[in-house]
Amino acid sequence: MKSVLVTGGAGFIGSNFIRHFLVRNPDVDVINFDKLTYAGNLENLSDVEGNQRYHFIKGDICERGDVELAFRKFKIDTVVHFAAESHVDRSILGSSVFVQTNVVGTNILLDVAKESGIQRFLHISTDEVYGSLGSTGKFTEETPLHPNSPYSASKAGSDLLALAYQHTFGLPVIITRCSNNYGPYQFPEKLIPLMIINALNDKPLPVYGDGLNVRDWLHVVDHCVAIDAVLQAGKPGEVYNIGGNNEWKNIDIVKLILQKVGKPESLIRFVKDRPGHDRRYAIDAAKIKNEIGWTPSYTFERGIEETVQWYLNNRGWWSRVMSGEYQEYYQKQYDEVVRS
Ligand code: NAD
Ligand code: TYD
Repeated sequence: MKSVLVTGGAGFIGSNFIRHFLVRNPDVDVINFDKLTYAGNLENLSDVEGNQRYHFIKGDICERGDVELAFRKFKIDTVVHFAAESHVDRSILGSSVFVQTNVVGTNILLDVAKESGIQRFLHISTDEVYGSLGSTGKFTEETPLHPNSPYSASKAGSDLLALAYQHTFGLPVIITRCSNNYGPYQFPEKLIPLMIINALNDKPLPVYGDGLNVRDWLHVVDHCVAIDAVLQAGKPGEVYNIGGNNEWKNIDIVKLILQKVGKPESLIRFVKDRPGHDRRYAIDAAKIKNEIGWTPSYTFERGIEETVQWYLNNRGWWSRVMSGEYQEYYQKQYDEVVRS
C-alpha cells in the first residue's frame, strides 16, 4: 500500500479517518477525493493541509473523468470509499441524489478501480442495510439485507454492486458495516450534534415519535481504527460488522446531553415521527473481534463528554457550517418546532 484514495474525505468520518491514517501509516500517501457537497468541509482537515503525504482533489465520483484522472495522477493502489449522501431525513425529502451518488457513483468508482488493477477496495457501509430489529437480537454479517429508507436502500444497492465486482471480476473488495457514529466534526443534522447545538442555543430539541428508538453508538475514532485494521488484515470478499455494544434509546441520549450542557429537560419537544423510522439497530461485532482483533477503546461516558466539549470549543466551526443551505434544510425539516 503506497497511495490510498479516500473518497468523501472532507466529511465527518472521512476527515477523522485521514487524520488517524496519516499518523498510523507513515509511508503511505493519502489522496482525499471529495465533491465538497453541503457535508464536505476542508476546514475539517486544516491541521493536515501542510503534510507532504496529504493531497486533495475536488472531484465527483459520478464523473468518470474525475475519477480516472485521480487514479492516473496518483497511481492509486488502494481505495477507501466513504463518499455518499448520508442522512436518512434528507433521503426522505428527496431520494434521487442518493441513488445517483451512492449507487451510480459507487459503480463508476468500482469500474475505474477494476480497470486500474488495485490491491484493495474498502467499501464503507452501514448497519442500516439490515433494516430494523425488534427488542431482541443483533445484526450479524449473515442477516439478510432489508433496507427501509431511501438512504439505506441506496447503500444496500452499492454493497451488492461492490460484492458483484468481487465475485465477477475478482476486484479485491471488502465491506464494513458500522453502527451510528458520533464525535468531532459531525454535521449538525445528525442526532448528537443537533441536540448539543440546540441545547447550547436554548432552542427546542426535536425528538421523533416516542423517543424510544434505539441506536448502537460508536465513537468515530474507534470506527477509524477498525477501518485501518480491516484494510491491513481483512479478507477480500468479506463483510465485517463494526459496533461498540452500546445501545441507547434516543430520549436517554437527549437527556444525557441536556445534563452535560446544564440545560433543562423542558427544551425537549416530541415531534411527528420520521416516516418508516427503524425501531432498533444493534451490531454483533464478534467477527471483527475474533478474526481481526479489533475492539473499541472509548467508553460512552468519555466519548460523549469529549464530544460535548468539542462542540463547546468549536463554535466557529459549527456556526460556519450552519449558515446558508443548512438554514433552509432546518426550516423544512423542523417546520413544527420552528413555528411553535
Ligand atoms: P458525511 O455526509 O459527513 O460526508 C460525506 C462526504 O462525501 C462529504 O465530504 C461529501 O462532500 C462527499 N461526497 C458526497 N457526494 C460525493 C460525490 N458525488 N463525489 C465525491 N464526494 C462526495 O458522511 P459520514 O457520516 O462521514 O459518512 C461517511 C460514510 O460512512 C458514508 O458512506 C456513510 O454511509 C457511512 N456510514 C456513516 C455512519 C454515520 O453514523 N455517520 C455510520 C455507518 C456508515
Ligand atoms: P440520525 O442521527 O439521523 O441517524 P440514523 O437515522 O441514521 O440512525 O438519527 C439517530 C436517531 O435519532 C434516529 O432514531 C432518529 C432520531 N432523531 C430524532 O429523534 N430527532 C432528530 O432531530 C434527528 C436528527 C434524529
